[in-house]
Parts: sequence; structure tokens; C-alpha cells
Amino acid sequence: MTIATDSNLLIKPIAGALGAEISGVDLATASQPQIHAIREAFNAYHVLVFREQLLSPPQQKQFAEQFGSLETHPYINGLEGDPEVVAIIKERDEKINFGGGWHTDMSFLPRPPLGSLLYALEVPEFGGDTLFSNQHAAYMALSDTMKAIVDDLVGVHSAASQYGRGGDSEKRNYGSMSLEVSDRAHQLAEHPVVRTHPESNLRALYVNRPFTESIKGMRKPESDALLKFLCRHCEQERFTCRVKWEVGTLTMWDNRIVQHYALNDYQGQRRHMNRVTVEGDTPR
Ligand code: SIN
Repeated sequence: MTIATDSNLLIKPIAGALGAEISGVDLATASQPQIHAIREAFNAYHVLVFREQLLSPPQQKQFAEQFGSLETHPYINGLEGDPEVVAIIKERDEKINFGGGWHTDMSFLPRPPLGSLLYALEVPEFGGDTLFSNQHAAYMALSDTMKAIVDDLVGVHSAASQYGRGGDSEKRNYGSMSLEVSDRAHQLAEHPVVRTHPESNLRALYVNRPFTESIKGMRKPESDALLKFLCRHCEQERFTCRVKWEVGTLTMWDNRIVQHYALNDYQGQRRHMNRVTVEGDTPR
């Protein structure tokens, strides 16, 4: 099934749960009607894939700015001259990849990002795909009884497990990516466990393994058990799509409604992406 828009974009869904490939647009020169159609598709499919794009860091930023102001990552240095662009690199001799587990980008911020735009500069011959999971579908698949339990809960998030003292950035060697370790990472942010998307009004689960520490008001064993259940639930194959990268692919995803996972199945090969993140609002 391919859908044609008024502005000559072609939209082809890539999975039942979420995700679409869009062709017929050069993102460096996209017109306002095309941006409008992309925004509509973003709300409908949550993950959009564009192939054969040629984007310098300023051009990637310019396209991302059509969706909001840009975020500067609090713990990763961006490119010199383009600090909002973070290079996500795994060299041939490196073992650990960045983003190699289910997560939502920066949910530890009081106003977590709206979305991220990842552009492929160098990709492995095989492997290195990114998985995405639809958190609205995950919420809808819960029983009414479980929905009633989670509907009014609040999750406590922090960046400690990644960027805090004793966290992943300190313990593991991310090689070419220099990730800061900071006391600031222990600051807490509270967000609803089920958030409502500000544009589509879709309700979505909003907890993730690295950044959601606990459920407010619960004892630790209760909170741990519920988070374990919810995180496992969210990650089921039936809610996912998978993006296979080519050089020049740009994928944008809606952090308010998806989680993602960068697969680390390409040892010995180099992968280099540039990521730009768009600021979001307070989850409600
Ligand atoms: C990330 O933003 O978590 C990285 C995703 C990827 O490299 O595929």
C-alpha cells in the first residue's frame, strides 16, 4: 500500500505497528506543503524513513527546526560549530554501541525531546538496524484493569544509570564517543506513566529501562516489579518496526510515543550517524 499526498510525497508503511518510508522529497529543500504532509505522517506513523538524502549538519538542523527548537545534549558534546548535532559512532575495534537497549531519548529531562532525527553517514555491510516500538499500541494492549492501575501513576526518571557516578558511561568504554559523567545526572524528573500525545491525543506508556528509576509512592519491590512488567510488555515484537540503514537514510521518530533500540550486531564494522534532537514539552 502506498499513499500519495497532495504535495507529491509517497508514503509506504513498513510494519503493522508503526513506521513509514517517505519518498518524493529532498529534505534539504522541502517546501512548506511537503513539511505539512511530513508532520501529518509523523503523527500517523511515529517513525518516518527518508532514503537517498544528502544532508550536511546545518541542513539536517534546518530540516529538524521545522518541528521545533533544537536540543543540545546535556552530557554529550556535539560537533564543533554545530553543537546540536551529536555524532553517534562505533569504530571497527569498539565493542559497545550507543543506544544498544530499549529506551526513550532523554526522558530524564523535565521537558523531554519531541523527537530525534538520525542521519546515516557510514553503515555496516550488514547489521546495525534500529528497532522502534509503538508505546500507544503497548498501552492499548493492556487490560482495562491494568490501564486503570497505571493511568494515574507517576514515574521518576533520571540519567544516573547512564551519565551518573558509577553509571554506564563511567563503567563501559564507548570509545570514540565521549560521554560526560556528572553529578547533575542524579537529578530526578517526574512524568506520568501514561502520557497523552499533545497533537494526536493518543495515550502512550512512558517508562523505559535506563531512565525510569521508580514509580512514585510505591515500595521498591512493588515499583521494580511493575516497571519490569511494563518494560517487557512495551518491547514485544508485535509493537515494533525495524529500520535498515543505507548511507543517506534519515529516520525521524517521535520520542513522545516510541522507544527505540540500536542493534549491536556488526562487530568489526564501522557505523557513523549524526543525531539532532528537537525540544519537547512537559509530558501530561
Ligand atoms: C540512539 O539515538 O539511541 C541511537 C540510535 C541508533 O544509533 O540507531
